[in-house]
Amino acid sequence: MQDEKELVTEQNKEIMDHSGTDAGQASGDRRKFLMRVGWGSLAGFLAINSAAFLRFFYPRVLFEPPSQFKVGFPADYPLGTVSSQYQREYRTWIIRLQDGAFFAMETKCTHLGCTPSWMESQKKFKCPCHGSGYYITGLNFEGPAPRPMDRYKISLAEDGQLQVDKTIKFPGIPGKESNEVYPQSLLKV
Ligand code: FES
Repeated sequence: MQDEKELVTEQNKEIMDHSGTDAGQASGDRRKFLMRVGWGSLAGFLAINSAAFLRFFYPRVLFEPPSQFKVGFPADYPLGTVSSQYQREYRTWIIRLQDGAFFAMETKCTHLGCTPSWMESQKKFKCPCHGSGYYITGLNFEGPAPRPMDRYKISLAEDGQLQVDKTIKFPGIPGKESNEVYPQSLLKV
C-alpha cells in the first residue's frame, strides 16, 4: 500500500515537472515572438522616419516645359492645317492658314479650360466638355465659350525655325476675330 502511494506520488511529480517544462517553453516562445514583433515594429518605424527625413533634403522640383520652344521649319507645315504635334508637351497648336500665315494657339477652351479637338472634316475645333465650337482662327461660334481662344507669339528664329514664346500672349476678345485684333500674332513667311 505504501509502495503504491509512493508510485502515485512519483508519477504526479513527473507530470508536474513535465507540465512545468512545457509551460516554461511556451512562455519562452511567446517572449521570443513578442520580442521579434517589437523589434520588427521598431525597425519599420525607423525606416519610415528615415525615409521621411531624407526626403526633406530633396527639393520638390516641378519640371515644366520651357516657355520658348522651336517647332520646326515653315516648310514642315502645309497650307490650311492645324498641327497637334506640340499639344501634349506645350499645350500649343501650330496653325498655318491658307494664305501661308502662321499663328500659335493655346489648346484651352475659354469656357472652363478643357482641351478641344481639331475636327478636320468639319474644319473646326470642338470642345468635348460642353460642346463649344471654334473656327480655325480660334473664334468661337457655338456653345458656351465666351470668347476666342488665346494665341502666343510666334516668330522666326535665327536658324530659320519657327519659335513660340508663351510669355507673350494674345487673349481672345469676345466677338472679335484675333487675326484683326492682333495682326502681330500672325507670322507671314
Ligand atoms: S470647357 Fe469647353 S465648352 Fe465647356
